[in-house]
Amino acid sequence: MRILQDFELSFQHELATVYDKEEIKSIFLLVIEELLNIKRIAYQLKKDDLVAESDAICFQNILRDLKKNRPIQYILNKADFYGEFFEVNESVLIPRQETEELVDLIIKTHATSTNLKVIDIGTGSGCIPIILSKHLKQAQVTSVDISKEAIETAKKNAQRLGEAIHFINADILEWDYVFSDQRYDIIVSNPPYITPNEKQYMQQNVLAYEPELALFIEESAPLIFYDVISSFALKHLAPHGDLYFEINQYLGPETKDLISKKGFEQVQLIKDINGANRIIHAKKKS
Ligand SMILES: C[S@@+](CC[C@H](N)C(=O)[O-])C[C@H]1O[C@@H](n2cnc3c(N)ncnc32)[C@H](O)[C@@H]1O
Repeated sequence: MRILQDFELSFQHELATVYDKEEIKSIFLLVIEELLNIKRIAYQLKKDDLVAESDAICFQNILRDLKKNRPIQYILNKADFYGEFFEVNESVLIPRQETEELVDLIIKTHATSTNLKVIDIGTGSGCIPIILSKHLKQAQVTSVDISKEAIETAKKNAQRLGEAIHFINADILEWDYVFSDQRYDIIVSNPPYITPNEKQYMQQNVLAYEPELALFIEESAPLIFYDVISSFALKHLAPHGDLYFEINQYLGPETKDLISKKGFEQVQLIKDINGANRIIHAKKKS
């Protein structure tokens, strides 16, 4: 029988060409928490414990998938977002830290408001609408996605986390046929924004496993979702309502310009923690 630390050594040895040492350690700690319910702070005390044969097989299976570059969140079907666990699978994007920054900005900006009507466009795992519903007081949250599988996953997450979200399975590019006279106080979206040209700079595990539908837009129309969603916002945002976007960091000024030209005011381009242009916040005129 092997002890726990033997598996850490196998992870370090076999994944050395895929991840750096620190990443491997943090993946290993996630795995033991999930598999053996050993918290990361307890690992040092438990590293000489014997590992049961059935758990050893699970370690080997996880290692095999990790070597194929499969993201640990898809292997464990779990991702952490804003302090909550979300079920994820290969039909939804793994929630990103940049998106936590977007959600945090919205929560802090509207901390004193109540009964806000919010719509999120591009649900994915449901990370944005569920966290907003949890933190904005008595908000009524709607969320739209073109992917049936994403809506199903987000519904499960909403149910597990106890948030009542109104999900709509629809193509936002056809919004005129879907919405009638609804008005929202906040419209938020993290739409697909990567051009095929950028694929060459992307990590292999993102390209191989994350859903294309969530990531890519056509090279010829990189701002299509910003254009369409801001038109939707002109009609469906309440006067002085707020529009929030996560954006392609390489298209910050262009995206800001598009939204200003649509007629929004106080259009702000906001950088993320790494100094990249990442968020747009704008207000609708009266
Ligand atoms: C970048 S992902 C964002 C997912 C999630 N909000 C997050 O931040 O992790 C974009 C999402 O938009 C959805 N989507 C793509 N095209 C769409 C369309 N035409 N109408 C509605 N949703 C769309 C994708 O299925 C995907 O879930």
